[in-house]
Amino acid sequence: MARTVMIGNRKGGVAKTTTAVNLSYELSLKGKKVLLIDFDGQANTTSTYMLGDEEFYIGDALLDRKFDITKTIYPAIVDGIPQENLHIIPGRSGDVMTKLDMDMISLPRREERLLNHLNTIKDSYDYIFIDTNPGTSVLGLNAVIAADEFIIPTSYREKSIEGIEMFLTHIEEVKFIDESEIKFTILRCGLRRAAKREIAYGQSRTNTIWANQIANTIIWDKIIFFDAELAKLPVSKFSPKNEGAAYYRDFAREFDRNGK
Ligand SMILES: Nc1ncnc2c1ncn2[C@@H]1O[C@H](COP(=O)(O)OP(=O)(O)OP(=O)(O)O)[C@@H](O)[C@H]1O
Ligand SMILES: [Mg+2]
Repeated sequence: MARTVMIGNRKGGVAKTTTAVNLSYELSLKGKKVLLIDFDGQANTTSTYMLGDEEFYIGDALLDRKFDITKTIYPAIVDGIPQENLHIIPGRSGDVMTKLDMDMISLPRREERLLNHLNTIKDSYDYIFIDTNPGTSVLGLNAVIAADEFIIPTSYREKSIEGIEMFLTHIEEVKFIDESEIKFTILRCGLRRAAKREIAYGQSRTNTIWANQIANTIIWDKIIFFDAELAKLPVSKFSPKNEGAAYYRDFAREFDRNGK
């Protein structure tokens, strides 16, 4: 039975998509069966792993209760090679996702549609990740309801810690639970080693509240992440020997162990 994990933060640009792309790849290399669903709206996950000519996308399943969700699943393409262990449900670019959101508003059980579809395929995967955007759309609500745990990337920069607080409050409201009942991991991403004051500030704020939820692995700021994104590749494929290639490999090991 898959661990279903939403990658979210109410703050934009904190490496949610970078985490989705790289963590899912590293886990698949470890032999885990991974499904990655793209709710982002910028469709970067989709453009990294797909050729762009896929017939179906996540909206087809969300709009139609009877639609066979397996038809929306495609093997990820990495460097031209279809991956056995990494599968994608593609999103579409912004306008299509906005329209999808609006079309879903009038549907019955509009917030449980992803959960219900995923229940039919959960046994086929070890991990299902949902990459989301910072908003609270109907799509976002579907992700919160479907997820049984959360990865919250933070840069420690301005508003990113507030983004964690807002996101946790949002999950409490949507799932009708207290923060103590939410299973989540805070992942520090894009930290600059030289920014000692920023790190000390972030550390002091997060450690007092969420000491046990912060991942040990730190994803430091490295230009290689931007370069790999441009090349539409996971970092460890783009430049296996780069120090940055080890970060998500280490986090994949840590995250996989956390679930045991
Ligand atoms: N560790 C890192 N070091 C340097 N740059 C990074 C790192 N992680 C991500 N980036 C870059 O930061 C930018 C934002 O990252 P990303 O798109 O993953 O954020 P996001 O949270 O998904 O944003 P959005 O809220 O818009 O969906 C990207 O250009 C990405 O390449
Ligand atoms: Mg994103």
